[in-house]
Amino acid sequence: MSYLQDLIAFFEDSGIADSIRENDILFPTIESVHVIAICLVIGSILVLDLRLLGFASTNRPVGRLSRAVLPVTWGAFAIAVSSGFLLFISNATKYLANGYFDAKLVLICAAGLNMIVFHAISAKDLPQWEKQKSPPLRARIAGALSILLWIAVVACGRWIGFTMQVL
Ligand code: HEM
Repeated sequence: MSYLQDLIAFFEDSGIADSIRENDILFPTIESVHVIAICLVIGSILVLDLRLLGFASTNRPVGRLSRAVLPVTWGAFAIAVSSGFLLFISNATKYLANGYFDAKLVLICAAGLNMIVFHAISAKDLPQWEKQKSPPLRARIAGALSILLWIAVVACGRWIGFTMQVL
């Protein structure tokens, strides 16, 4: 077995994974936390993306809005990832065999890459355009791509439950 398979088996056979699997309350409770955290991640990112598209909060400079919103995004993201990981270890082998689960993780990485490229490249000259009602095209593209990617993440997340192999 490869190192990754060993690691997955280690988590899937752990006591905590067992408790989540065996307990009727734990999985839905953790999934509720996952859904609430996701709402905060997507909701806060949407505020910034709609500003980048020039559709909302156009009287607020992008930099100030970003500083106000991103701490909420990162905090909620940490909760979404930790709760998602707990759900995952309860049935790791089956989730990895689920195409929607795999696609969701790839899309989350793509959304992260889009954010890194925006902050590292597109926003390098932010002070020059952050007060513009309609930001430069590269910023609007980053905002639109972000919205499309997160919608796809949520759709894949939802489809996992409908397509999981029960047995
Ligand atoms: C911010 C990033 C994330 C978003 C937006 C997201 C989105 C979702 C959504 C919309 C659902 C369906 C919830 C429902 O309908 O009840 C879901 C379920 C799930 N997510 Fe995530 N997720 C994220 C991160 C993660 C991560 C990092 C993992 C694992 C490492 C993960 C593992 C799962 C699992 C295992 C389920 C349960 C599927 C089921 O059996 O119903 N999620 N996620």
